[in-house]
Amino acid sequence: MSKKIRIGIIGMGTIGSVHANAYAKVANAELYAVCDILPDRLAEKAKLHNVGKTYVKYEDLLADPKIDAVSVCVPNHMHAPIAIAAFKAGKHVMLEKPMTLNAELAKKILAARDKSGKLLQLGMVWRQTPEAEVVKEAVDAGRLGEIYQIRVKLIRRRGIPGLGGWFTTKAMSGGGGLIDIAVHFLDLAMWSSGLWNPTKVSAKTYSKFGSPMEDYHYVSMWAGPPKLDGTFDVDDYATGLVRFGDKATLVFEVAWACNAKDEAYIELLGDKGGVKVGMGDTTILTEVDKRIADVHLTYVQERDRFAAELEKFVAAIQGKGEVAASGEEGVITMRLLDAIYKSSEKNAEVNV
Ligand SMILES: NC(=O)c1ccc[n+]([C@@H]2O[C@H](COP(=O)([O-])OP(=O)(O)OC[C@H]3O[C@@H](n4cnc5c(N)ncnc54)[C@H](O)[C@@H]3O)[C@@H](O)[C@H]2O)c1
Repeated sequence: MSKKIRIGIIGMGTIGSVHANAYAKVANAELYAVCDILPDRLAEKAKLHNVGKTYVKYEDLLADPKIDAVSVCVPNHMHAPIAIAAFKAGKHVMLEKPMTLNAELAKKILAARDKSGKLLQLGMVWRQTPEAEVVKEAVDAGRLGEIYQIRVKLIRRRGIPGLGGWFTTKAMSGGGGLIDIAVHFLDLAMWSSGLWNPTKVSAKTYSKFGSPMEDYHYVSMWAGPPKLDGTFDVDDYATGLVRFGDKATLVFEVAWACNAKDEAYIELLGDKGGVKVGMGDTTILTEVDKRIADVHLTYVQERDRFAAELEKFVAAIQGKGEVAASGEEGVITMRLLDAIYKSSEKNAEVNV
């Protein structure tokens, strides 16, 4: 039996706790230490997750030789400094999404990983949904034929998280709904289709609902309550067209807030079949024996996708497989996000 991988989680907010619960389901992992700059939260979360070791400074956690790997679950602007320091300290890194604030920093994380010889896995947890998995299998088996168009739709009617806090402060988040939630579905689109070569983008981002903050009306708020004396200087809606060379295109629409009903899916159109992922239905619209036909892909409904993700991270450290989402893929996604923001700013098509 191989030795358990000792884990430290840095950042014990919402997603830090999700990781702690998920590691508890991974047989070969031991959650050994947790870290947060807020001492009260740290004490509360250590008790909740039954963890003996606590650190207020991430540097001290990284200096602990007992720790093999870390989950980085802090606000986006701290992803690069902490991931790079973790590699320097010889730890494997599970890094939450988005990889970081921009492609330049993403490349620095990759360089630090390469120098350390340790593993980096990104938190692209949507890949672990059973739905996404069966569609990827169908694509890999050639059931869609050549994919030439992808639609990405991720609409929240009123879903701005933590209004006035780090999520809506560009210097800390890197952007709004685009970098926060579209990052998942743009990754899912490229991963499931295998189209990892975005070349050009024409896009526009808008900021219509988050500011002035007093005028934002909502039903519930993730990471709330709002801080009305805080900052909102990010996008709450984005749309655009991405070209993959001259063979394929992707249109996307993403909103943290807009006057439309909630929707979340990606749709792949191939010359042999088309399928949607994200609506709880993975029906391939196709032809069988020269007749128009629907092929329903069935899949296991229940899965803790975070546990599945962390299971793969731990297995990869133990030499039993690949990481579930690589740093190289993360750099491509960050380049695409950079290009979307640049295209919007320039009001023109730009190279990725
Ligand atoms: N995969 C997903 O579906 C998913 C979902 C939510 C959030 N996230 C990502 O996880 C990250 C954290 O998001 P969240 O919602 O948990 O935020 P959060 O604000 O709830 O938690 C962040 C925590 O990090 C702590 N922190 C900040 N700076 C720190 C530092 N220097 N050292 C140690 N701790 C520090 C804060 O005190 C806070 O407790 C973000 O990058 C976010 O994009 C991913």
